[in-house]
Amino acid sequence: MSMKSDPAADLLKQIHPGSAAWLDSIPTRRGAHTGRGFFFRESLKSLSVTASLFPSSRFLASALLRPIDFDRARIIVELGMGTGAITTEILRRMAPGSMLFAIEVNPAFIAHVRSKVHDSRFVPIAGRAERLGSILGKRGVRRADAIVSSLGLTSMAHDQRASIVGQAAEHLGENGVLTQYQYLPASAKPKWVRALGPKHFAEESFLREYFREVRSERVIWNLPPAKVYTCRP
Ligand SMILES: C[S@@+](CC[C@H](N)C(=O)[O-])C[C@H]1O[C@@H](n2cnc3c(N)ncnc32)[C@H](O)[C@@H]1O
Repeated sequence: MSMKSDPAADLLKQIHPGSAAWLDSIPTRRGAHTGRGFFFRESLKSLSVTASLFPSSRFLASALLRPIDFDRARIIVELGMGTGAITTEILRRMAPGSMLFAIEVNPAFIAHVRSKVHDSRFVPIAGRAERLGSILGKRGVRRADAIVSSLGLTSMAHDQRASIVGQAAEHLGENGVLTQYQYLPASAKPKWVRALGPKHFAEESFLREYFREVRSERVIWNLPPAKVYTCRP
């Protein structure tokens, strides 16, 4: 499938013609049901919550999932499922006896993913990541082996992100791993980038307050390009 027939990409090309060549150069999986148009429409309703106009690319999904040992991970938690770009990749890699608890605040995204994913290992949960502890507690889960977060920490209030990441660190097993991404324009430090408008947030330093080890990796093949953080307790 090419992005030429994608409504979200077409609109971006109209607003910003210079993006056309770059958009067309992004490889997408043939026949993949990414839900890009639906994601784009939902994002326009509440961009500060969705924190993106486009679902993650398969390259970003791979970088987020590479640090996870899927042979051992029994309990996986996803924060901010959207249209399921990462969810489906987690399920594809997950062992038969494992469980995926996917928390998403937008009920329209929950309904969308429910309609396309039929897998007994998948538990979609309509709720806020701020309630992570009680959501897991109600389901008898004390610790997760992996937490994959797509939440837009940059656009959140400090107390909100501190509450979410604090609970994630608390509910991660001692050999567990949390992965999180941030779009490069928000992580870039140069003043000229900040002057263009994107909010700056030192996500890596913030994550270091909660995790002993934090590594980062750039993913260029995403819209926009991103930085993936791998965090271990
Ligand atoms: C940047 S999108 C990522 C969606 C998807 N995982 C992807 O990579 O394409 C962030 C998602 O987090 C959800 N979200 C935002 N704040 C949330 C919160 N406090 N609790 C749970 N989900 C939230 C949004 O509705 C949105 O679906």
